[in-house]
Amino acid sequence: MSKDRLYIFDTTLRDGEQSPGFSMNTDEKLRLARQIEVLGVDVMEAGFPIASDDDAHAVQLIAAEITQPVIAGLARCNPLDIERTGESLRPAQRARIHTFIATSDLHLERKLRISRDDCLAAVTAGVTQARGYTDDVEFSAEDATRSDMDFLCRVVETAIEAGATTINLPDTVGYCTPEEIEEFFLEIRRKVTNADKVIFSTHCHDDLGLAVANSLAAVKAGVRQVECTINGIGERAGNASLEEIVMATRVKPDRLPYETIVNSQELFRTSQLLTEITHESVQANKALVGRNAFAHEAGIHQDGVIKDRRTYEIMKPEDVGVESTLVLGKHSGRHAVKKRCEELGYELNRFELDRVYREVIALADKQKSVSDNDVSDIVDRVQASVTSDAGAA
Ligand code: KIV
Ligand code: ZN
Repeated sequence: MSKDRLYIFDTTLRDGEQSPGFSMNTDEKLRLARQIEVLGVDVMEAGFPIASDDDAHAVQLIAAEITQPVIAGLARCNPLDIERTGESLRPAQRARIHTFIATSDLHLERKLRISRDDCLAAVTAGVTQARGYTDDVEFSAEDATRSDMDFLCRVVETAIEAGATTINLPDTVGYCTPEEIEEFFLEIRRKVTNADKVIFSTHCHDDLGLAVANSLAAVKAGVRQVECTINGIGERAGNASLEEIVMATRVKPDRLPYETIVNSQELFRTSQLLTEITHESVQANKALVGRNAFAHEAGIHQDGVIKDRRTYEIMKPEDVGVESTLVLGKHSGRHAVKKRCEELGYELNRFELDRVYREVIALADKQKSVSDNDVSDIVDRVQASVTSDAGAA
């Protein structure tokens, strides 16, 4: 089956970085940008240059050093923002200006205090100005999914006429369900007269825990760029998680026949680096990158996995760069203890295994799980005592 190309737009360094607890200094942003380049995304949103001098500087440094992905910078639809972003992106081999304005009546009336006509004028002016810096211009209609459909279609047509090449329609407040967002994009693509000239993009927030499902539903409706972040970080409940989007397409090619260029074996390493830099860990049961994502502790599960991993694993942990999967705890069986000992390089006879197994379970009763170091200590002690018992006899 031939697969459609799905473009991955990583906004960890912009939407992710702007959320509480996730701010990074310039060196940290560069470190993460290097790893995201190794991970292999199509577009890396490096920051929001008008937000601060530091942000502008970081975007400039990333644009100068990172060459594989397109480097994007965010700008509101106003002259100063676009100029700042255009200048910050100058060193980039391939630069994208990502300009946005809100389009829902709620945002226009209550936040921006401008009319729909003012909004349309700002779209034309902003996109036209951005095209003066680069041919690659993305336009986003903030709060698109709560905007009046006919007005939104006019906004999108206006942005395309002014030269936008990607149209992003965010579910800014994470309010949609998958069915709604699929119908939303189908309707937009049907009603917008020049829709065939651009790539449509989705940017879903996770306020109802639906960001990944919504993004995939949007893709089903013809969207070919997904905006997402490592570990799903971002404003409030976060954005769609990059690792979940990518692995859903890898694991379910029959349902999701889309191809990304992401090197999935770098997913865990990238997640870990983000955690190390921000000191914000992911929940233990977070899909793909959480501590327990591939952990099997229950005896029945461990036994199944040892016999055939497919009994409880729908993908190989190595596919996302995770190595060890069997966690020794009080529910572990003898099989799992034996296997972990073998993985650690120990060969045990039946008598030794009995004693090691009993000690592992006793220790697991006292502490939550038993680490490789604990296992090694136990085996060394058991083997030493067996040898000295034999010597004494
Ligand atoms: O959530 C949102 O609407 C955004 C836009 C600025 C793209 O982050
Ligand atoms: Zn956002």
